Amino acid sequence: MKNAVLNRLPGDNPWQLRYYEEIDSTNTKAKELAREGAPHGTVVLARRQSAGRGRLGRQFQSPGGMGVYLSVILRYPVAATQVMHLTCAVGVAMADAVERLCEVRPGLKWINDLVCGGKKLGGILTELSVSPQTGLLEYAVVGVGINCLQKKEDFSPELQDMAVSLTTVCSKPVAPDAMAAEMILALQRMDGRLFSEQTTLMEQYRKDCITLGKQVRLVQGDTEHTGIARDVDIAGGLVVDFSDGTRKTVNSGEVSVRGLYGYTDL
Ligand code: BTN
Repeated sequence: MKNAVLNRLPGDNPWQLRYYEEIDSTNTKAKELAREGAPHGTVVLARRQSAGRGRLGRQFQSPGGMGVYLSVILRYPVAATQVMHLTCAVGVAMADAVERLCEVRPGLKWINDLVCGGKKLGGILTELSVSPQTGLLEYAVVGVGINCLQKKEDFSPELQDMAVSLTTVCSKPVAPDAMAAEMILALQRMDGRLFSEQTTLMEQYRKDCITLGKQVRLVQGDTEHTGIARDVDIAGGLVVDFSDGTRKTVNSGEVSVRGLYGYTDL
């Protein structure tokens, strides 16, 4: 897979690629490499993950050769508060990558899910390391998983009605190595625009975001509140009008957003 990906990248590709046939989680490996000093743009790619992770402690099923499982180390010399829109920018970049390869643009379910036809195509897991003394970002690890070749029966029974792959969406096999190369190129373009074009990136995020205008259920620990998602602010916060008449902006670390009837009604 490594050469198949590298052959699709330009000869002067500035990012280093580390490939593993099998790993627990590319995010975990990328964080380990970042702690050891690996540079900005180090990409960790795996054919299979034995413990792929999603947001809020969820699992991300990562069967061998069926999808892209990659993480990249990003280092920006800024306060961590300045990169709150990173997951949104990566979401837009991943929608671009899928559109380029497959001529279908996925929607983005706030904040980090790629969705096609109401089903989850993939997801993004952003993990930050922040200096407690200065509040500066030490590194960000952004992990992306995209289902490529699965047929319905390849997903576990509980996911079969909620997950989908590019092959199903596009009615043609979409190889993980071709998708991985598009994703790396899209991440590189995003990297060049993250701060200089934040407003434009967030405008595109709002266009792609299927959560806006929908009724949502915010689950935080044991409490649940319903409301209508009205906007995404410049830092990626979701602005919600709650049924008690209050308006609040919620941040991704805190809550899980569901449609009123589960995943697929968004
Ligand atoms: C989610 O569904 O909440 C996010 C899923 C993110 C999955 C990707 S696969 C590559 C990287 N390694 C992980 O363990 N997770 C991310």
